[in-house]
Amino acid sequence: MKLGELYRKLVDEDFVILEFFVRNLRRFEYIPVEYIAQKLTRFTPKELDARLRKLAKLKVIERHPTMNAYRLKVVGLDCVALRRMVKRGLLKALGDMVGVGKESDIYRGLTDNDEMVVVKFYRIGRTSFRQAARVRGYGASFERGTWLARSVIAGHREREALKILNEYQVPQVPKLYGGALHAVVIQYLEGPELYEVRELEKPQEVLEKIIDAVRAAYWKAKIVHGDLSEYNIIIDLRTGVEEPYIIDWPQFISSVEPMANQLLERDVRYIVRFFTKRFGIDVDLQEVLKYVLTPME
Ligand SMILES: Nc1ncnc2c1ncn2[C@@H]1O[C@H](COP(=O)(O)OP(=O)(O)OP(=O)(O)O)[C@@H](O)[C@H]1O
Ligand SMILES: [Mg+2]
Repeated sequence: MKLGELYRKLVDEDFVILEFFVRNLRRFEYIPVEYIAQKLTRFTPKELDARLRKLAKLKVIERHPTMNAYRLKVVGLDCVALRRMVKRGLLKALGDMVGVGKESDIYRGLTDNDEMVVVKFYRIGRTSFRQAARVRGYGASFERGTWLARSVIAGHREREALKILNEYQVPQVPKLYGGALHAVVIQYLEGPELYEVRELEKPQEVLEKIIDAVRAAYWKAKIVHGDLSEYNIIIDLRTGVEEPYIIDWPQFISSVEPMANQLLERDVRYIVRFFTKRFGIDVDLQEVLKYVLTPME
């Protein structure tokens, strides 16, 4: 079932329960039904039981194999985030999935003001969890709860970065609309990722835009991306100009941190090397680095 469709099957009372799971994300993985009943006194035991069954059937929560306890699933977290964003008047519709990252699922969406956006739902631990389950042969399930909490932290981090970058008007960064929990609502970009691009009309200009953005991020917003590569740049082509956008900021670090300059250098090195190899551009890395490290204003 599609996420938007699933979301519409949930009613207010379902969200009372799901919100309760979210509030307890860091404390429990499985929450005993007895405990839920104790805290959510508005439900009779029978009502609660029926609701929990419904939610488990929709696979937004999951019953423990032996105990009378449930845990929140990541789609359940998605639904709560969606609900909060809808209530806040940020989002009115969720469309199809447009991208799957290593650590996120990306959906198209529409704001209340009819602006096209993407909604990025973090899925921290997806790859490493599968890995762990395969390697160890058992679920590593005690870690699952914390994966959801970590996804929420990643969402916060990316929103924090984009907010500051937007505030300082750092160019080539998508606009942040907001978000909730592990979800981030970002301006919709249309075009290939840089690694897919075989040819650019003006590669030199595109590189300069990226470098200027990295420099402005460093000096104005005081932020280093920390994972810059051809996989985290989208070339938006809608305006007829090749417009690079730097995406995927959760791992950013502050430019005053000890590691900042090392990461800044690596970011610049990766990008320069890619442009040299792919588009045959002749630039001197040391000169670019000197330029980026030259203070602004
Ligand atoms: N603002 C956007 N507009 C359109 N598509 C986007 C946008 N942001 C991300 N995408 C698509 O979703 C994919 C994953 O995005 P992002 O890099 O932010 O997530 P990720 O989980 O960190 O991915 P990865 O781990 O593979 O780098 C992108 O490669 C891109 O195809
Ligand atoms: Mg990425």
